[in-house]
Amino acid sequence: MVASKAIVAAALAGAATASVIPKSNSIENIKSGRATIQQVPRTNYRSNGALSMYKTYLKYNTPIPDWLATAAANSVGADPAKFKRDEGSATTTPIDTYDDAYITPVSIGTPAQVLNLDFDTGSSDLWVFSSLTAAADIDGQSSYDPTDSSTAKLLSGYTWDISYGDGSSSSGVVYTDVVSVGGVTVTSQAVEAAETVSSEFTEDEDIDGLLGLGFNSLNTVSPKAQSTFWYNALDSLDEPVFAANLQHQAPGTYDFGFINETFADSLTYTAVTKLPGYWKFTSTGYGVGDDFTTDSIVGIADTGTTLIYLPAAVVKAYYAEVSGATNSVLFGGYIFDCSATLPDFVFGVGSSTITVPGDYINFVSFALC
Ligand SMILES: *[C@@H]1O[C@H](CO)[C@@H](O)[C@H](O)[C@H]1NC(C)=O
Repeated sequence: MVASKAIVAAALAGAATASVIPKSNSIENIKSGRATIQQVPRTNYRSNGALSMYKTYLKYNTPIPDWLATAAANSVGADPAKFKRDEGSATTTPIDTYDDAYITPVSIGTPAQVLNLDFDTGSSDLWVFSSLTAAADIDGQSSYDPTDSSTAKLLSGYTWDISYGDGSSSSGVVYTDVVSVGGVTVTSQAVEAAETVSSEFTEDEDIDGLLGLGFNSLNTVSPKAQSTFWYNALDSLDEPVFAANLQHQAPGTYDFGFINETFADSLTYTAVTKLPGYWKFTSTGYGVGDDFTTDSIVGIADTGTTLIYLPAAVVKAYYAEVSGATNSVLFGGYIFDCSATLPDFVFGVGSSTITVPGDYINFVSFALC
């Protein structure tokens, strides 16, 4: 707080500086050896504290209070639309009882075409099934048709091509169009229209595309990478934040521009490594049940990968606490009896720990349970 007050004071001092213009009659004074230059105010300039302060807040990524946004928007010569503070919330719903993926409605184009996209903090492309997608690659998904949108513009010569960690992929061409999520709108968002998608996407009829929330450095558009929806929305948001609130077998939300006060108190903070473009952080350790082992584990917070992947030794330590659990070659993972009690799994983030309830860890039950 102290630092930001100092910055604001400096900005206000800057705004009060007037231009110096010599008056024409000062020539005589110079000739006589006495130079007096009178300071006169610039007639076409109005000092504007609110606007300067607003720009300083923006520069230092400090949340902009509503009164300041309003004052800046009211400034002489300011375009009020530019200073509108925005926030929004969209419901995100699991596609199945395993919470395999979550879909969120996104409005694209004019009039709006609504597609259900998988919001993915592990990638940075916004791509959609489209009218250009090969017919054989579509099986029940909704498609974006740029010819039905009066605001769609082809980015001529631009292409994209992405491969994900699970082996799936897609590629195509690029438009810019209006994109809205939960009431937050970006007027010129790169919308990557698929021409081809791999079988994994074809087989998933619930997912009409992805909306990447990683850092821009991961974007695959060529010849020039494009910015994510969140990055494009940043300047118009109340606060430069988004929140992924994913629930187990129930709808949750993606919030843009604010932190919901119902979970604000339980937030914890940790440093993120921005390169190569994931939300990469170092966990302080892990625990099974009541134990906790301090052990740095580097990972990424990836909303598009809903399972937790851990070093084999950590997984082994967890299942050592589940009676009768064995690592099955046949099933490709640990199996255990329906009656087994699963302990909680805990991992460290910053100065806190996050608990995954034991009940959530039984991913798939077979017939007899
Ligand atoms: C905050 O979360 C609560 C509980 O999920 C919800 O009822 C409320 O509408 C949310 N508030 C906003 C502003 O989204």
